[in-house]
Amino acid sequence: MSSAISTPETEALIWKCFLPSPEATNALAERLAPILGAGDAVMLSGPIGAGKTHFARALIQARLKAVDIWEDVPSPTFTLVQTYQADELEIWHADLYRLGGPADVDELGLFEAFDMALTLVEWPERLGSERPAQRLELRFETGQEVGQRNLTALAFGSKWHRREAALSELFRG
Ligand SMILES: Nc1ncnc2c1ncn2[C@@H]1O[C@H](COP(=O)(O)OP(=O)(O)O)[C@@H](O)[C@H]1O
Ligand SMILES: [Mg+2]
Repeated sequence: MSSAISTPETEALIWKCFLPSPEATNALAERLAPILGAGDAVMLSGPIGAGKTHFARALIQARLKAVDIWEDVPSPTFTLVQTYQADELEIWHADLYRLGGPADVDELGLFEAFDMALTLVEWPERLGSERPAQRLELRFETGQEVGQRNLTALAFGSKWHRREAALSELFRG
């Protein structure tokens, strides 16, 4: 169902997995959540309606639930950034769709957040070459049937490569 391939070209670890239902996407997000911490940048790619916000919501709510907090997680489409506090961990959920380019991103304070918070970024393409070198990229695509999604996960940088075993287990289901 999933495989890890190391490509010399991009030096990314790559896994592919199938998400047969929205619940399967929630389950994956809930299992990824505890592996993440401050300074981790997760990029969520894919067309409108692919499931980026759905995934981010499940992940954020899992981290909040672990510290007995329930909060609504709206899409940051219009606010651009929503932040959450799970005890010491600050979580940033950004949607860069409406931004012009990296200069606007600087104003949001996102570059500082990459270092000190757990950041989840929808439409990371807007960052251009300013995407963090160390990042986990999750690319969502719609499947053949309603409710299905295909996910490609790419781990860039030593920080993520050190977590290869945990990530492999995760994306293998
Ligand atoms: N397997 C799946 N994984 C995630 N979302 C799914 C899946 N199947 C259907 N969906 C639905 O697709 C929609 C995705 O919307 P959203 O997460 O807002 O997309 P995006 O943020 O990528 O534009 C949601 O209504 C969600 O319930
Ligand atoms: Mg969205």
